[in-house]
Amino acid sequence: MPFCEIRNVAKSYFLEGKRIDVLRGVSLTIESGQMLSLTGASGSGKSTFLQVLGALDAPTSGSILFDGRDVTHLGEAELSRFRNETIGFVFQFHHLLPELTALENVMMPALIRRMARSEAEQKACALLDAVGLTERAGHKPGELSGGEQQRVALARALVLSPRLLLADEPTGNLDPKTGEGIHEVIQRLNAQLGIAALIVTHNTALARACPRRLRLQDGVIVEESIESVSVC
Ligand SMILES: Nc1ncnc2c1ncn2[C@@H]1O[C@H](COP(=O)(O)OP(=O)(O)OP(=O)(O)O)[C@@H](O)[C@H]1O
Ligand SMILES: [Mg+2]
Repeated sequence: MPFCEIRNVAKSYFLEGKRIDVLRGVSLTIESGQMLSLTGASGSGKSTFLQVLGALDAPTSGSILFDGRDVTHLGEAELSRFRNETIGFVFQFHHLLPELTALENVMMPALIRRMARSEAEQKACALLDAVGLTERAGHKPGELSGGEQQRVALARALVLSPRLLLADEPTGNLDPKTGEGIHEVIQRLNAQLGIAALIVTHNTALARACPRRLRLQDGVIVEESIESVSVC
């Protein structure tokens, strides 16, 4: 049984009487521990797809199965449990809490889940170390560079040990070298912890570095070979 199976997922938005068909039948299988990149033009539906896959938004039709269980019809409590246990999300705009330090930001999802404070702190410290930010643990987001903030967001997404990391342009607005560093961290965590990762990126080189490359085009996902990965 595959870790994750996306079957014919469609997503339409309805706005002011107009219907926008963003996803038009996406089908995809993701195996445990797999690392994938997702490219596609601006507005092609990458963030929409991630939100639907991470159960932050419901598809208009189709089903999404994790370990054979369809999560598209779960009630609110079960849904939030599923998200907590399975998905780590790095948002396109990272939404760190400005009043909290880097360490507290990373600990927050664990504290919300009532993990003991000492354990949450231990996990958060280990993750900040993994993303190279031990020295910045006491800094607030406003006292961190953009790349450092992204790395904090990445550590926060991993604090509950998800099985699937969904990262929406984690290297957007960063210089290529910093962006590369973030990808390297994700790759290392993927290899060390066996976390599957789906990374949205506009950076062709980074997309190519992923073993499996997807492209969202005309509302569907196509698999790309290394040769055909193109800039968008
Ligand atoms: N809540 C919403 N209501 C109506 N339309 C929406 C909504 N969210 C997104 N859209 C539309 O859906 C399309 C896909 O948006 P989405 O954010 O998924 O694109 P994207 O591929 O992530 O783009 P980018 O690369 O710019 O981040 C866009 O045309 C957008 O205007
Ligand atoms: Mg987007």
